[in-house]
Amino acid sequence: MQIIPLEKPLGAIIDGVDLRDTPNKALIAKIKQCIHRYQVVIFQRQTFNAAQQLSFTKALGPVRKRKLPENYVIPASSYDTPGIAYVSNIRDENGIPTGVIPDGEMWFHHDTCYTDEPDKFTMLCAITVPRSGGNTMWCNMYDALDSMPTSLRQKIQGKRALNVYDYATIEKPNLQNLDQLEKAWQPAIITHPTTGREALFVNRLMTCQIEGMSLEESSSILEQVFDHAEKKQFIYEHHWTVGDFIVWDNLSVTHARTHFKLGHDRRLRRSKVSGEKLN
Ligand SMILES: [Fe+2]
Repeated sequence: MQIIPLEKPLGAIIDGVDLRDTPNKALIAKIKQCIHRYQVVIFQRQTFNAAQQLSFTKALGPVRKRKLPENYVIPASSYDTPGIAYVSNIRDENGIPTGVIPDGEMWFHHDTCYTDEPDKFTMLCAITVPRSGGNTMWCNMYDALDSMPTSLRQKIQGKRALNVYDYATIEKPNLQNLDQLEKAWQPAIITHPTTGREALFVNRLMTCQIEGMSLEESSSILEQVFDHAEKKQFIYEHHWTVGDFIVWDNLSVTHARTHFKLGHDRRLRRSKVSGEKLN
């Protein structure tokens, strides 16, 4: 196994690993170390199938399987391999979606931060990619916090923040329906459970309120925090190639998708490792 760090604010390529065979314990330990160090790791030219991806995911930790809202569309192809989901805009011959592709993905977010135990790792394998666009961006939340002006940091230090996800909306959740939405309070700054480093843990898509502040005051502060965190210098943008398999540390990065043209196909295979309660 060879590790090639990217010349970016985060990321590394792991070469020399064929994920059709689940790596042994020693190699898995090295891969985990690499994910925690570089935050986003890229395996290239992978040809593994859904069951093999699931086996690799299980080797990294307990696979995330969560209860979804009743009206949530689960593509038929995901039933074959529970724990695997497809992020796709492609429809089958009957016009049925073969995956989900929420528009909210275009805003930076931490996966499932609106639950008590946000995902630890998220991973995507590129099956079909558009000719242009549909890139994924990751934002380094260690660096974003380290470089935050002290006056701004003080406003969120030691505070919890409310994260909400509204499956029905494409942008910020509709807070009129707060009772019916999935939500969780998380520390605005977390101590990463594995690395022990402090990371910013708020995001534009889901974070709505800071503990002890009105929605109005919260949003004025949060806007400043998001504008700071999403500066170019903290972001790595990946142009997908078929066979790319990317695993990221969901607690130390946010991610977002870029736009791609209607009519262009995009299909990624996703799996996740469950996380734990944060502090
Ligand atoms: Fe996501």
